[in-house]
Amino acid sequence: MLALLLFAAVALAAAQNDTLPRPPAPRREQFRVIYEWNVIDFEWKSPEDREAYLNTSRYIPQNVLISGINFYQDDLFLTMPRMLDGVPATLATIPVAPSDTAPKLRPFPSWSQNTVGDCNALQFVQNIEIDKNGLMWILDNGRVGTLTQNPDAKCPPSLVLIDLKSGKNEMERIPFSPDTVNPNTTYLNDLVVDNRDGDYAYITDNSAVDPGIIVFRRSDKKSWKVRDTQSMSSVAEATLFRINGTSVELPVNIDGIALGPQYRNEEGKVDRKVYYCPLSSYHLYAINASVLQNESLGQQGKGALRPYVVDLGYKASQTDGMKMDSTGVLFYGLIGNSTIAEWNTTVDFRVGQRTIARDPNYIQWVDRFTFDNKGNVYVVINRLYNFVKNLVSVNEVNYRILKSHTGSKSYVLSEDLSEPTSATGPQSAAAAPALASSLLLLAMAQLLA
Ligand SMILES: *[C@@H]1O[C@H](CO)[C@@H](O)[C@H](O)[C@H]1NC(C)=O
Ligand SMILES: *[C@@H]1O[C@H](CO)[C@@H](O)[C@H](O)[C@H]1NC(C)=O
Ligand SMILES: *[C@@H]1O[C@H](CO)[C@@H](O)[C@H](O)[C@H]1NC(C)=O
Ligand SMILES: *[C@@H]1O[C@H](CO)[C@@H](O)[C@H](O)[C@H]1NC(C)=O
Ligand SMILES: *[C@@H]1O[C@H](CO)[C@@H](O)[C@H](O)[C@H]1NC(C)=O
Ligand SMILES: *[C@@H]1O[C@H](CO)[C@@H](O)[C@H](O)[C@H]1NC(C)=O
Ligand SMILES: *[C@@H]1O[C@H](CO)[C@@H](O)[C@H](O)[C@H]1NC(C)=O
Ligand SMILES: *[C@@H]1O[C@H](CO)[C@@H](O)[C@H](O)[C@H]1NC(C)=O
Repeated sequence: MLALLLFAAVALAAAQNDTLPRPPAPRREQFRVIYEWNVIDFEWKSPEDREAYLNTSRYIPQNVLISGINFYQDDLFLTMPRMLDGVPATLATIPVAPSDTAPKLRPFPSWSQNTVGDCNALQFVQNIEIDKNGLMWILDNGRVGTLTQNPDAKCPPSLVLIDLKSGKNEMERIPFSPDTVNPNTTYLNDLVVDNRDGDYAYITDNSAVDPGIIVFRRSDKKSWKVRDTQSMSSVAEATLFRINGTSVELPVNIDGIALGPQYRNEEGKVDRKVYYCPLSSYHLYAINASVLQNESLGQQGKGALRPYVVDLGYKASQTDGMKMDSTGVLFYGLIGNSTIAEWNTTVDFRVGQRTIARDPNYIQWVDRFTFDNKGNVYVVINRLYNFVKNLVSVNEVNYRILKSHTGSKSYVLSEDLSEPTSATGPQSAAAAPALASSLLLLAMAQLLA
């Protein structure tokens, strides 16, 4: 049985432009902590197996960081990028229904398919997406030890697809051409999937030397990379992160990405907006998906994308992960403000940003978000600032998953305008419960023995 301990947190409006009128903020349920871990542990084949991994430094508990999160059926999928040595699996599941506050992770698809150095297995996964057809899209960077002295490009950077509906969990590995994605310098960070015209993925590559968006077209497995220095690079004014009494200097390029609902443009054609931001930036940018889909822009020089990029304006702080719901509401973190924020994309960004949770003790580096099929949003909090400084203390809670009911569902389930008889619609947003109080609460779910 679960009991909820409530920790109050006062809602504050995100710092923004006060000269424009503000639309009313929607009421949001409080976020609760549903899972928390000091260190990440796994479901081992046997206690001896765990001991053998520990003995040989293939499992170094304080080196395992959870970063990405996704949902399918009864499971939450978590990613553990192998930035340091000793990460025994890079993709794993936990049950979506809490049974334990610190569940052990079950490697996915299996232990063997997480073997370091086996190029049929997963090497370095920062993020995945699961599309509307139950297809899992896994970004495998191929290179491990990215935070060590000797990063090792074990396997080609690849997109790995798994048809979850089949139940067989067979992996289809699609390596990127080294001409498009340099295996020595790429950092495949995050992706959105656009289930139109045979499926596209838009992937952020926050490579320190060549940041950009990689576009992958599934129909012919072709990919190209588009670049825009101004909107995809870290900027000096935003490389300092101050959080929980710590400062960390991180110049990180294009990172978070989100995909808006379909709309018809002036010519009656269906299009979508792609939103993105460098980690080390205070700006949010947008570009039309139709522009990214134009292969010829990948062949042109660095300035080719410039005329198509829109700077939407300032955020109060830096953002790592973000996620769009099916109606065009964006959820994102504001790292230096210990804040989870949202923005209804139908409203001007400069006046439409809202703080929905703020708590310096529980919201310590917002990483990724996901939605389930019951209107809940989940967010990974991972104290990345401690991890990159090698200051992880195993005596403290380092990783949390927070949950709130918003009535939303993922952008992958947004209305398909190209299918006239589409059954899916934006109706679920109307079902969001209105709370009587504007006081947002952060609650911690605790297991009673
Ligand atoms: C606020 O918005 C107004 C009107 O769009 C604009 O003129 C002004 O520069 C903005 N201020 C800031 C601080 O962004
Ligand atoms: C792990 O190391 C300890 C101490 O060296 C040793 O006693 C134990 O047998 C080892 N266990 C395994 C499974 O290798
Ligand atoms: C990556 O590094 C390896 C080893 O240094 C080198 O052989 C290879 O040519 C590099 N690949 C690219 C695409 O630069
Ligand atoms: C793709 O971009 C090129 C410019 O690089 C432009 O000439 C062409 O019309 C675009 N194609 C489409 C389908 O928009
Ligand atoms: C993007 O799409 C919108 C809506 O169709 C259009 O008004 C705008 O001109 C496009 N922007 C660019 C930069 O192509
Ligand atoms: C948010 O954090 C930034 C630093 O990232 C800081 O400069 C700003 O004052 C904070 N704003 C609020 C409203 O706390
Ligand atoms: C977003 O804004 C639009 C237009 O103002 C409104 O119809 C819609 O209900 C808003 N969505 C949410 C979730 O508040
Ligand atoms: C950092 O976070 C911990 C755990 O939430 C809290 O106990 C501590 O007071 C925080 N330190 C600072 C300086 O904010």
